[in-house]
Amino acid sequence: MAIISSGSDRPRQHRAGPSPIGPASRPDRAGSGRLVDPVAGPGEGSAAAGPGLLQPAAGAPAEAAGADASDAAGPGREDSLRPRRLADYIGQGELKQVLGIAVEATRSRGEALDHVLLHGPPGLGKTTMALVLAEELGVRCRITSAPALERPRDIVGLLVNLQPHEVLFIDEIHRLNRVAEEILYPAMEDFRLDLTVGKGTTARTRSLPLAPFTLVGATTRAGALSAPLRDRFGLIQRLEFYQLGDLQAIVERTAGLLALQLDTAAALELARRCRGTPRIANRLLRRVRDVAAVGGHGRISAELVDQALRLHRVDARGLDASDRRLLALLLEGYGGGPVGLETLAAGLGEDPTTLEGVVEPYLLQLGFLQRTPRGRIVTEAGRAHVAAVAAMATPGGHQK
Ligand code: ADE
Repeated sequence: MAIISSGSDRPRQHRAGPSPIGPASRPDRAGSGRLVDPVAGPGEGSAAAGPGLLQPAAGAPAEAAGADASDAAGPGREDSLRPRRLADYIGQGELKQVLGIAVEATRSRGEALDHVLLHGPPGLGKTTMALVLAEELGVRCRITSAPALERPRDIVGLLVNLQPHEVLFIDEIHRLNRVAEEILYPAMEDFRLDLTVGKGTTARTRSLPLAPFTLVGATTRAGALSAPLRDRFGLIQRLEFYQLGDLQAIVERTAGLLALQLDTAAALELARRCRGTPRIANRLLRRVRDVAAVGGHGRISAELVDQALRLHRVDARGLDASDRRLLALLLEGYGGGPVGLETLAAGLGEDPTTLEGVVEPYLLQLGFLQRTPRGRIVTEAGRAHVAAVAAMATPGGHQK
């Protein structure tokens, strides 16, 4: 289990007490037990990573400053670009307003923030928001993901080591197994851990008090969460795809952090082609930076963005090869649909959950695809887009 701790520059409000469970079940000894400052990210040398940002949390082993590529926080490269405070977080106005009020009220009461469920397509900033909340509350954020909480002791170890008011972030929370969920219920509701000691007729239940904490759960599939788990979140918020202006501002902010000279039109072009998703915007910006560096361009223009994104087969609306394959299969194989999700996934060699949670949402948002009770259908706008891309394709077929 990889655990990432967010260090705050501010002094901690709350201090560690002795753990009620022995060292064998401490999470920093279980699994890979890594502790990383997610703001700096491992080995990140960008302009954003100021001196001393990359520090293992107090008491963490020095070699622990690294992160698995599979960590909930994603590759460390992304971490240096994350906003740290609500005021720096661009877009998601309603989410910021709701959480800002909750944080302020909570702080004034001296309590732990109510549990928060964040849902929406990947790459929109759920992990970032969990880290921002911790920063705003002046506490650490411990990050994990449901698949890493396979054994009961994984979740127990995390819970017993939480300090008062700390944030526990569980990514992909819809994938928690039943045992882990049942451990979480009393932990979330009453800050209590119910443990069964012994077996068979000698089995007894013991309750251990936990520090009041905030669970931030993230999921791309809110509907897949069990009702009892969903009901225990006091704040349930959906992250939406970003508006063009917000994406442009995010690209400009990232360009500043990476010390790039980027024309306004170039930022806008990137914003148009990143599927409404900051993570994709930042990834594409890095690819554009490569093309600029190799071509010896000091400034990045809109034309250079176009050239780089064509090379990476990202079309004018931000669709990539997977999106176009889906539309092409629907159009060429099934006359535009309707086609069931399973059939589509089999035809594309994709997992249906990935198709539904990762590929389809942006096509639905653009109005290129419709979900109907009988299956998926390509819309007129989708057809027109595919035709336009085909017409523009070069003999080399970059956009195909
Ligand atoms: N970088 C990635 N997402 C961001 C956001 N929402 N605001 C500011 N910078 C970001």
